[in-house]
Amino acid sequence: MEYIDRKTYFEITEKERPRRLEWFKKARFGMFIHYSLFSQLAMGEWCMSQQNYTVKEYEEFAKSFAPKEGCADEWCRMAKEAGAKYAVLTTRHHEGFSLWNSKVNPYNSYNYCGRDIVKEFTDACRKYGLKIGLYSSLMDWHHPDGWRCAFDQDARRRFTDYIEALNTELLSNYGKIDILWYDMPFPMGSSDAWDSINRNYRLRKLQPDMLINNRSKLQEDFLTPEDSVTPQDGAYWEACMTFNGISWGYLDSKQALPYSYSAQQIIQMINKCSSRGGNLLLNIGPKADGSIPEEAVEPLRTVGRWLSENGDAVYGNKAITGSNYTGCGVNMATAEPDKKTVYIINRIWPSNGVLQLGGYKQEPKKVTVLSTGENVDFKLDGHRLILENLPKEAPDKHAGTTVFKMEFDCEIPYEYISYYPHMNNGQNKSGDLVQN
Ligand code: GLC
Repeated sequence: MEYIDRKTYFEITEKERPRRLEWFKKARFGMFIHYSLFSQLAMGEWCMSQQNYTVKEYEEFAKSFAPKEGCADEWCRMAKEAGAKYAVLTTRHHEGFSLWNSKVNPYNSYNYCGRDIVKEFTDACRKYGLKIGLYSSLMDWHHPDGWRCAFDQDARRRFTDYIEALNTELLSNYGKIDILWYDMPFPMGSSDAWDSINRNYRLRKLQPDMLINNRSKLQEDFLTPEDSVTPQDGAYWEACMTFNGISWGYLDSKQALPYSYSAQQIIQMINKCSSRGGNLLLNIGPKADGSIPEEAVEPLRTVGRWLSENGDAVYGNKAITGSNYTGCGVNMATAEPDKKTVYIINRIWPSNGVLQLGGYKQEPKKVTVLSTGENVDFKLDGHRLILENLPKEAPDKHAGTTVFKMEFDCEIPYEYISYYPHMNNGQNKSGDLVQN
């Protein structure tokens, strides 16, 4: 066994981090897949513990676990069609059931129904050109040491060895893996108790390019705000979102539908992530047989169609803009790293054929509708850039979310000087701005 001290581990991993993160920062959009025994219960992925099933009772669901042929292919095909660049599968959720042919955990899909879902998933990811993420829970409700590890040293050692053995299988037997997505470092409260430094050090040796998220009590490569697109400072981040705000695991589609996100809402999440320096990992919770929940299909297809025409405003290592270049809400912006190209993403189309953008001090050399390449008329009116003679209806027919591409000669000449002092960060205190 190889060991490493904290300082050296951080030095090594930090040095290589920018290189490891390169593809991830450009990818912007990934698909999360929560699939396991809980999919049969259709009441959320925490139902084993929330509904207080005994371990024995819950094991019955392993006997009836019956993924249909080709379900992993279906997920990955959908991810690709939606414009996602990577996918992350719950290989073993908190209920402790492994979705692969594990030698260290007999409670696994191969032993119960002869299926290695991880193999099917990794094959499908490669077939559709998706980078591969494997989710791995630290908390385990099935393993006898999963709780005892918090107060019994021997149990702790057995359990951390078990966690390492599981992940060693995942990272040794399925080719190149791009992300190790840990979850729920419970019940132990520190990275030392979980032995995360040594384990991650050894696991990284198996997959030198692999990214690790921040859920093993170490910050590692990226942060993971959950079920809310909350930009993070100081480190790269990926917001993971359910499809409906209420569950990661499958819910009855009819009942889930009113809670589910529309294509417009998903596109808005993607835009928010791209403009604030992060990724979106959007979940689907497949049904008991592994099929994609109906309510997700059309929105995802629409997102894919929109991205196929407007991807330039999303993919790639964008400069962080927030909504600064536009105002907020209705219009959002992303920008290329050289800041000479800015994409204005409009959600509510102006009925008068005029879109006014505050804050631009200089004219762009060119404005086009990104999806069609058509030129847009514009003029600078001293204190705002005006896009004019716009058509009656939004050119974007997929989601009513039209992107304008604005090209400048220089870095975006933007300075939000408002007539309204509350917009000026406390500047222009005199309050006597001339209004023309
Ligand atoms: C939480 C939940 C879990 C879900 C995960 C996704 O930690 O416990 O059910 O898989 O978030 O981010």
